Amino acid sequence: MKNDVELIVEKVVPGGRGFGRLPDGRPAMISGAFPGERVRLRLVRDRKSYVEAEAELLEGERRVTPGCPVAATCGGCDWIPLELEAQREHKLELLREALRRTGGFDEPPGLRIVTAGEPWGYRTRIRLQLRGGKVGFHAAGSHDLVEIEECLVSAPEVGAALSRLRRALGRGTPLGDEFASVEIRCAPGSSRATYFFARARGRALSARGRALLAELGREDVVVVEGEPGTEAELERFELGECYLLAAPGTFTQVNWAVNRALVREIVEGARRRGARSFADLYCGSGNFSLPLLAAGLTGKGVEASAPSIAALRRAATEQGIEAASFEVGRVTEVARRWARAGERFELVIVDPPRAGAKDALEAIERLTAGTLVMVSCDPVTFARDLRALTGRGLVLEEVLAFDMFPQTHHVECVAWLRRAQAA
Ligand SMILES: C[S@@+](CC[C@H](N)C(=O)[O-])C[C@H]1O[C@@H](n2cnc3c(N)ncnc32)[C@H](O)[C@@H]1O
Repeated sequence: MKNDVELIVEKVVPGGRGFGRLPDGRPAMISGAFPGERVRLRLVRDRKSYVEAEAELLEGERRVTPGCPVAATCGGCDWIPLELEAQREHKLELLREALRRTGGFDEPPGLRIVTAGEPWGYRTRIRLQLRGGKVGFHAAGSHDLVEIEECLVSAPEVGAALSRLRRALGRGTPLGDEFASVEIRCAPGSSRATYFFARARGRALSARGRALLAELGREDVVVVEGEPGTEAELERFELGECYLLAAPGTFTQVNWAVNRALVREIVEGARRRGARSFADLYCGSGNFSLPLLAAGLTGKGVEASAPSIAALRRAATEQGIEAASFEVGRVTEVARRWARAGERFELVIVDPPRAGAKDALEAIERLTAGTLVMVSCDPVTFARDLRALTGRGLVLEEVLAFDMFPQTHHVECVAWLRRAQAA
């Protein structure tokens, strides 16, 4: 392909890049290009059956000038140059296309996007790369470091914690390369941050590293991956009628306003369908389970992370909620065991990591007496798993997208399914 090819971008594809066709008919995957735009291509890689390219924008009506000083290089917010309404339209299209191509659903029922809170300052946790005294995000498409002074999508509490980290790194001798990354997390409204450091492989902690941890630890919670935690390190996240506790380094949703809308959707959806019992698969620290239990349902859950289950039990005990039936385990094994024992639930919640729940779906379907709700941050594995479930006798009732990650192509997907009535 020559470098000066011009084309009109047709759509966005999973991963967030634009898609267009070269004059020879081959597909082009184009970074930084959006549907309807006329762009000139710069070849990045020729992969024979398709090309990867970067875009020089020639015409595009829905662009905005990002206020972020590192927008052009940072790999964090790939859709930041696009107006918010356009981002949301394209996310819905991404999901619609995945449902059609991978799921085989031509007309997903009820498909719409749910928004809440602000499109800036929403992230309650960020994972930053550390290179000695420098801290930042990976550059787009590479592992180069883009140094970050502030991050416009991070919550103000997280921004303040980043500034404290930068000040501590800037004092004294430069830090070595003992840490690979650090996750900063703050519950909304809390002035206390948690810094979760991941050690670089094979590197010992230096005196300078220890001094850094001690300095941050005066105000905040500091944990190094692999070292035992304490209950004093749990962060409290409010969920309306109840709260959850989260241990450092464990999963929590990033956008709390949207998460609260998501939790409301699950609790009200359960109520509308008359569910009294539930199974929460991949339950984390109880983001869905605690509100459902607080609403009077009975349930059990499974999660691979032991600190998450310990935090869930602690949060339940503190709030007088009965949560004895939550176990540490892998969903594939535990769901099969429950299914073999003949357990059935009026509501089954499935919220797997990005790879989806493929190997567990047969057991999951057997556990479902009435309703299943699938939550996922990957439209393609989501659509694949929905297809498998509908092939096993469940019917797709409603699909929703939640705009959990504004300024990026990522989208949280939710589907309600019910058991088909026997004829
Ligand atoms: C997307 S998170 C959802 C957590 C929770 N539902 C929430 O909203 O906070 C996925 C969770 O699955 C857990 N996990 C990953 N693989 C698992 C497996 N094979 N079995 C059980 N849990 C797993 C992760 O530790 C993580 O807590």
